[in-house]
Amino acid sequence: MENLISLVNKIQRACTALGDHGEATALPTLWDSLPSIAVVGGQSSGKSSVLESVVGKDFLPRGSGIVTRRPLVLQLHKIDEGSREYAEFLHLPRKRFTDFAAVRREIQDETDRETGRTKQISSVPIHLSIYSPNVVNLTLIDLPGLTKVAVEGQPDSIVQDIENMVRSYIEKPNCIILAISPANQDLATSDAIKISREVDPTGERTLGVLTKIDLMDKGTDAADGSKYKVLNAATDGNCQHAILEGKSYRLKFPWVGVVNRSQADINKNVDMIAARHREREYFASTPEYKHLAHRMGSEHLAKMLSNHLEVVIKSKIPGIQSLVNKTIAELESELSRLGKPIAADAGGKMYSIMEICRLFDQIYKEHLDGVRSGGDKI
Ligand code: GDP
Ligand code: NA
Ligand code: MG
Repeated sequence: MENLISLVNKIQRACTALGDHGEATALPTLWDSLPSIAVVGGQSSGKSSVLESVVGKDFLPRGSGIVTRRPLVLQLHKIDEGSREYAEFLHLPRKRFTDFAAVRREIQDETDRETGRTKQISSVPIHLSIYSPNVVNLTLIDLPGLTKVAVEGQPDSIVQDIENMVRSYIEKPNCIILAISPANQDLATSDAIKISREVDPTGERTLGVLTKIDLMDKGTDAADGSKYKVLNAATDGNCQHAILEGKSYRLKFPWVGVVNRSQADINKNVDMIAARHREREYFASTPEYKHLAHRMGSEHLAKMLSNHLEVVIKSKIPGIQSLVNKTIAELESELSRLGKPIAADAGGKMYSIMEICRLFDQIYKEHLDGVRSGGDKI
């Protein structure tokens, strides 16, 4: 399975590279058929913090206000134990970042290059790959936060622009939605729940995450108990009927509560390992969550995501396969139309995606052989 997920990652990266150059018309369809995970929620709900803890690395700009102003398409690649981890941007090929503070600065700079140093947003994604022994193979998309009002320096259209941008990612049936709601706000007003319910009314592909559990106002919450109910539903296997503010919100998956670093922690440079340790302690020692501890926290969320992605990819194999075949045929006819010799640049790109498609083909056949012989190769 490792193989298949990393192959899907490769195809996505190749599609983005080609898409940017507008060279191959068949590829957006291929891209659309591949699963990815997008993080959605209101501004400062903790989206970037959740992504960081899934990755286990400090590398994203975080903070109050509109910090994430362009979509960030993040691919995690698991490499061998003992290998040195590094990051690479699509817009800076061949440059390996081993300093993750520099990754954060480059995200900020590359955001500014596109939008200026303003509070403007852009729908042009930044593409980042992280290679590490400590990650699971996943493609994650960090998105600008949903907001209700424009602030100074922003056009009035920004509220709608962000919503449209977010929707364009999460409305794709293959997008798994990581819907982030802060536990210290009324869930009935959660932007994440509102927009994910719109595109995924039955909750088939939405994972609900409650952040800021540590900031939850226990006084008010105990009175109504709805957030505890949400988290408790995780253990009684009856999440279909998790009740939020008296309304039934059907999600197929159990909600996960997390405790990220606070702004004070960020200011004090509390590191990821210390933060995770504290998060584990928090769930294990807080009476309300003790019995849920094994299903709470960032590490559990990362595992859940990876498992889910695996299931989704397996279920999509036949569909992806037929698209890949179509793409090979189309690329071949395109290449023969161009005749030989072809421009090194365009041709090189096409051949590389063809190689990826062929590799996919091969793995798919191995998978079928595995199924026939009763094993499970992927
Ligand atoms: P985003 O705008 O949704 O990407 O949110 P960020 O990840 O940038 O976080 C916004 C602010 O909330 C930062 O100051 C974080 O430190 C803080 N924050 C996020 N999650 C938590 C949490 O679980 N607990 C606490 N106390 N603070 C959090
Ligand atoms: Na923020
Ligand atoms: Mg953010």
